[in-house]
Amino acid sequence: MRETDLGADLESVLITKEEIDAKLEELAAKIDAAYAGKELLLVGVLKGAVMVMADLARALSSPVTMDWMAVSSYGAGTQSSGVVRILKDLDVDIKGRHVLIVEDIIDSGLTLSWLLSNLGSREPASLRVCTLLRKPDAAKVDIDVEWVGFDIPNEFVVGYGLDYAEKYRNLPFVGTLAPHVYSD
Ligand code: XMP
Ligand code: MG
Repeated sequence: MRETDLGADLESVLITKEEIDAKLEELAAKIDAAYAGKELLLVGVLKGAVMVMADLARALSSPVTMDWMAVSSYGAGTQSSGVVRILKDLDVDIKGRHVLIVEDIIDSGLTLSWLLSNLGSREPASLRVCTLLRKPDAAKVDIDVEWVGFDIPNEFVVGYGLDYAEKYRNLPFVGTLAPHVYSD
């Protein structure tokens, strides 16, 4: 989809496709350097991280392997409760592996905290995090996120993997929704 196909649903473009591409190239160079000479396993968190994973993986020059996890937070509404259920676990054993979690967005950080302790208990050689987006609340929890693409304001965003009611994931940019979408 092009930015001119915004339609009436989007309020604004927060981060353009070009900005995302440039940022992922920059992060990929740092990740390449950090894992030089090591075998890296990228763990993408479904479904939101699909686009970041695909583009980041192709921006890396080192060969990597990829696996996926799907998790869901219990609790009503759009707020993450921190109680997480595994919908799809990893296919591979990560014991002794260098693992990089690839995320679309960190909001409260509760999902990520849970993931870090769950995957950490499987005894990987190393466990780090790369996220495209981070909201201000994430700063309140004590989690180490090695690579962050963009710190964004506390607004609900869609596109580039992120959805509202499963829609807008295929927008090539990150945008905010027009208020009428919520209220309709
Ligand atoms: P935490 O646990 O960090 O949850 O609060 C992160 C997850 O919440 C979802 N999320 C969003 N999804 N636009 C979205 O489409 C947003 O602005 C947004 N904020 C949080 C997302 O699933 C993420 O993995
Ligand atoms: Mg996610």
